[in-house]
Amino acid sequence: MLHFINQLPKAELHLHIEGTFEPELMFEIAKRNGIKIKYNSVEEIRNAYQFDCLQDFLDIYYAGAGVLIHEQDFYDLTYSYLEICAEQNVRHTEIMFDPQTHTDRGVSFETVINGISNACKDAEGKLGVTSLLIMSYLRHLSEEEAFKTLEQSLPYKHLIKAVGLDSSEMGNPPSKFKNVFEASVKEGYIPVAHAGEEGPAEYIWEALDILNIKRIDHGNNCFEDDLIDEIVKRDIALTVCPLSNTALRVVDDLKNHPIKKMMSKGLKVTVNSDDPAYFGGQVNQNYIELQDALELTKADLYEFAKNSFQYSLLDKEQKARRIQELDVFYSQNS
Ligand code: HPA
Ligand code: ZN
Repeated sequence: MLHFINQLPKAELHLHIEGTFEPELMFEIAKRNGIKIKYNSVEEIRNAYQFDCLQDFLDIYYAGAGVLIHEQDFYDLTYSYLEICAEQNVRHTEIMFDPQTHTDRGVSFETVINGISNACKDAEGKLGVTSLLIMSYLRHLSEEEAFKTLEQSLPYKHLIKAVGLDSSEMGNPPSKFKNVFEASVKEGYIPVAHAGEEGPAEYIWEALDILNIKRIDHGNNCFEDDLIDEIVKRDIALTVCPLSNTALRVVDDLKNHPIKKMMSKGLKVTVNSDDPAYFGGQVNQNYIELQDALELTKADLYEFAKNSFQYSLLDKEQKARRIQELDVFYSQNS
């Protein structure tokens, strides 16, 4: 099974680039930028990664991102993640980045987008991993601030595929960002959003009906009959993040993870790492631990991988080509 998971061609659809920041690289970049961080060793950093809820994690995640200053820093961060993708047979990835985490510290939008997108371009050539970028608005900030970010992004529109919504969910419903999502769609960005991670089913409704999202990030709290019917009807996928869910106590134990229940209701689910440096594993580790906890079959894992291509933001032909590649693998390894 391990071999099957490692070799399985797949896409990752829920990944925050700032959440891939491994302590070793954080130390290296902090040192070259002359920034003092709160911890004295890699072990100390890893020991600090114990969370009771989403906000606990976010406080540490934003602090870690504070050492990223230069274009090269964003390049190195992104390229390191893409090397890991290649090792895991992640053939395609859709990377979220949080511009406001950086622009609010005086780092320019241009620095962030150039570093990330140049790494993506190089990785496509050297590693064969393709990527698309999702610019995420921080929901604990105002809609007006999100509008500023939208404005800053326009010269780089050709490098960005979609807009997302992340950060502290409770008290920051999707409806708060109605206007900026409308404006983003007018600019050609595809809308997605985190919804129902800690927030209620009502937030998922809002993300669907008010933001008109094309994919739900997390969606754990979707278990209302009408809501499930609506998600199925719209043929929208959930980007599920099992190890994130246990790390942030959205789910108490992987054995109680609702992913099988989601599948049994006809929902399309994918498996993703969210913030792998913080939550104890890359995407393959999420597949491995979930398979073990829920005794999943190869057919279940194939379904996750197929959904990951089918519900990606790639065009029709690219999806078909990658699914065909997956099917060849599956027919030889099932
Ligand atoms: N939820 C909300 N915001 C985030 C997350 C998450 O899981 N990861 C990074 N930002
Ligand atoms: Zn996330």
